[in-house]
Amino acid sequence: MAPLRVGLVGLGEVAQSIHLPVLADQRDCWAIAGVFDVSPSLVALVTSEYAARAFDTAEALINSPDIDVVFVLSSDDTHSRFVRTAMQADKHILLEKPACLTVREIDELLALMPAYRKTLFVGYMRRYAPAYLAARDELPAHADITHVRIFDLISEGRHFLKKSRNILYPNDVDPALLARGARERDALIREVVGTDAPADLVRAYRGLTALSSHHISAMRGLIGEPKGVVAAHRTNGGANTSVTFDYGHFACLYDAVVDDLGLFDAMIEVRSNTRRVRIIYDTPYIRSLPTRLEVTEAGPLGPVTKSFGPLYGDAFSNELEIFHRHIVEGTKPLTDLADSRRDLALMAGIIERMKESGGNV
Ligand SMILES: NC(=O)c1ccc[n+]([C@@H]2O[C@H](COP(=O)([O-])OP(=O)(O)OC[C@H]3O[C@@H](n4cnc5c(N)ncnc54)[C@H](O)[C@@H]3O)[C@@H](O)[C@H]2O)c1
Repeated sequence: MAPLRVGLVGLGEVAQSIHLPVLADQRDCWAIAGVFDVSPSLVALVTSEYAARAFDTAEALINSPDIDVVFVLSSDDTHSRFVRTAMQADKHILLEKPACLTVREIDELLALMPAYRKTLFVGYMRRYAPAYLAARDELPAHADITHVRIFDLISEGRHFLKKSRNILYPNDVDPALLARGARERDALIREVVGTDAPADLVRAYRGLTALSSHHISAMRGLIGEPKGVVAAHRTNGGANTSVTFDYGHFACLYDAVVDDLGLFDAMIEVRSNTRRVRIIYDTPYIRSLPTRLEVTEAGPLGPVTKSFGPLYGDAFSNELEIFHRHIVEGTKPLTDLADSRRDLALMAGIIERMKESGGNV
């Protein structure tokens, strides 16, 4: 099969650090055929590095007969607009997480599904990391789970990325466009948090959609759907969140702390009375850093720990290989729009609990 011709909308950090290099590596599967961004300097850089055609608008790229697959890598507030156009043009779609910012936007896109015949894949790469995939065979039976603990104790991606890639952060985007984007993003967030929500609740929702969505999606993929959100709390101006999910016979505790320490400490831990499984993701979003899996069981002399890894399979490369396979085989991805709707509904539930518990700046 000829490589599929990819058009990328949005050429920012994730496009430059992840998708463009992975697409170029997987040259038998993909050809970088077209690009669009509202920053002229980014378009100039990427077209010179990857010999792709620059389109005048996102719509021209999406509707072009020379594009088979659209990668939506622009800011969150633009996702539903570009996905709608790509679904109506019947193109395959790689959609960066979060799929959208509101359940309403997803519902409007889901209404287009009956006429859409292609593959839409949401890029939750932690669900395609080798340690995560291997953990599924090591988990205790669901009925035996007694506790789950998940955390993201991290610094922002730029702490790490600037040491590994020379990313261009442009300063030539039309200020009117930037202001419009900020207004649209704020309006979408306020649909969920409320028009008069305090700044720390707005920040908490941004953190949920930008960071926590990874682990909320991974949690659901690993141990199924929670019955609901028991409690949620925000501190440190909304930069830190603590959430308790109700799984009936056990609770799942999630913590996010974002600081400037320059550490990346992220984990999912599932326990029964005699077994502990840990997926260790101490990998900021830099390609090809390893994940690890640890399985500890009660033994006659005391606990015995089996270690998998470091596993160097790259989660981002895996996700694109799996996306390609779904396109070729016509199969349905695990991380699709309906799946992302569940994440956004849970995030809205978390916000409702946060409103009850109040903030602590
Ligand atoms: N999977 C991951 O680990 C991961 C990591 C980072 C970002 N992301 C997601 O990827 C997306 C992009 O994030 P980023 O960090 O690259 O952000 P970014 O701000 O660096 O890049 C976004 C790009 O979109 C462009 N853009 C904005 N409005 C546009 C429009 N109307 N038309 C065309 N281009 C437009 C901007 O000019 C910018 O270049 C976000 O949805 C984010 O949540 C995912």
